[in-house]
Amino acid sequence: MSLMKVGILGTGGMGGRHATHAKKIAGVELGAFDPDAERLAFFASEKGVTPFESARELIEWAEVVDVCTPTDRHADLALESLKSGKPTLLEKPLARSLAECEELLKVAKQTKMPLGTAQVVRFFPDYSAAHKAIKSGKIGTPAAIRMRRGGGMPTGWFGDMERSGGVLLDLAVHEFDWLIWTLGQCTQVYSRSIQFGDSRGSHESRADYSLTTLTFANGAVAHVEATWMDPGGGRSTLEAAGSGGVIEFDSRLNNALRISTVNGSRAESPNPASDDPYFRQISAFLEAIRNGRPVPVTGRDGANATALALAALESASTGQPVTPKFFGPEFDYWAD
Ligand SMILES: NC(=O)c1ccc[n+]([C@@H]2O[C@H](COP(=O)([O-])OP(=O)(O)OC[C@H]3O[C@@H](n4cnc5c(N)ncnc54)[C@H](O)[C@@H]3O)[C@@H](O)[C@H]2O)c1
Repeated sequence: MSLMKVGILGTGGMGGRHATHAKKIAGVELGAFDPDAERLAFFASEKGVTPFESARELIEWAEVVDVCTPTDRHADLALESLKSGKPTLLEKPLARSLAECEELLKVAKQTKMPLGTAQVVRFFPDYSAAHKAIKSGKIGTPAAIRMRRGGGMPTGWFGDMERSGGVLLDLAVHEFDWLIWTLGQCTQVYSRSIQFGDSRGSHESRADYSLTTLTFANGAVAHVEATWMDPGGGRSTLEAAGSGGVIEFDSRLNNALRISTVNGSRAESPNPASDDPYFRQISAFLEAIRNGRPVPVTGRDGANATALALAALESASTGQPVTPKFFGPEFDYWAD
């Protein structure tokens, strides 16, 4: 297999995870940059990755760039990478604002550079099985979907609303992406949230919780709960009800995915043993680049999930329902 130089920007939690899994792919050589010199040096020796002295040098060296920085630094670095002619994968959410999303899609299209988003939930076996079951009509016409994602209050930049966008942009964006992927275009978002305190305060003085109702063009409705007020640890759930059955998933249960139909059939599957979703994500992205095919989760997909999250933030602050921006196929990087 031909060699591929992959440059990782940001050597924190996600940079580490991407590096661990990219290293397993034959022919991949890794480089990294992080302004935190100590962290970069540790990362380089721990992961066997070549460290670079600036983002510019890393981008020049790399054939593919993987942006794993805090959310407010996604757009500027990815724009530099695309303008340098490098296919680029961005961690979710695609960007911090709608204007940044639009600029990214515009530049990817102008340069014809592949732009992908790391909406990793699509690569989790239970979520991809639930998506396939709904698409194949297993539960009839999907009608009402209830999703939840939460965990404890994070530290650092995550707690700074201006940088991360809080639970709606940081957590619920996973559900928003899965919902658009599964149900199609969303026509209305209504969100209620409570948010106080920031990363400078103690955990006890902070809150971030949201509940969002979504209406889809196909008539289905969904509600998404996102919370950083669960010291019990990370948990995600899904319940999809259709005219012919229901699908249930709870990440805290062992027999995770359960499909029951009106015909009386019931299937419970333990989490299927398969490759790690982060491995599946990075290998699918790099394989698409190697083979000159569209990347599996595009910048447009990421922009649409981000647009839902931003519409939910707007609704939560105004108390009014919002029609989210939808980026159509004309925004795909290969579109003429
Ligand atoms: N898909 C998931 O499951 C998942 C989980 C957590 C975080 N994320 C996303 O991944 C991104 C990174 O989150 P994280 O948890 O790794 O954060 P982190 O704080 O652990 O790491 C971010 C790193 O980026 C570095 N950085 C800052 N500015 C930089 C720059 N200009 N160039 C290069 N590096 C820079 C920081 O020094 C830090 O080391 C965020 O967008 C977050 O939303 C995704």
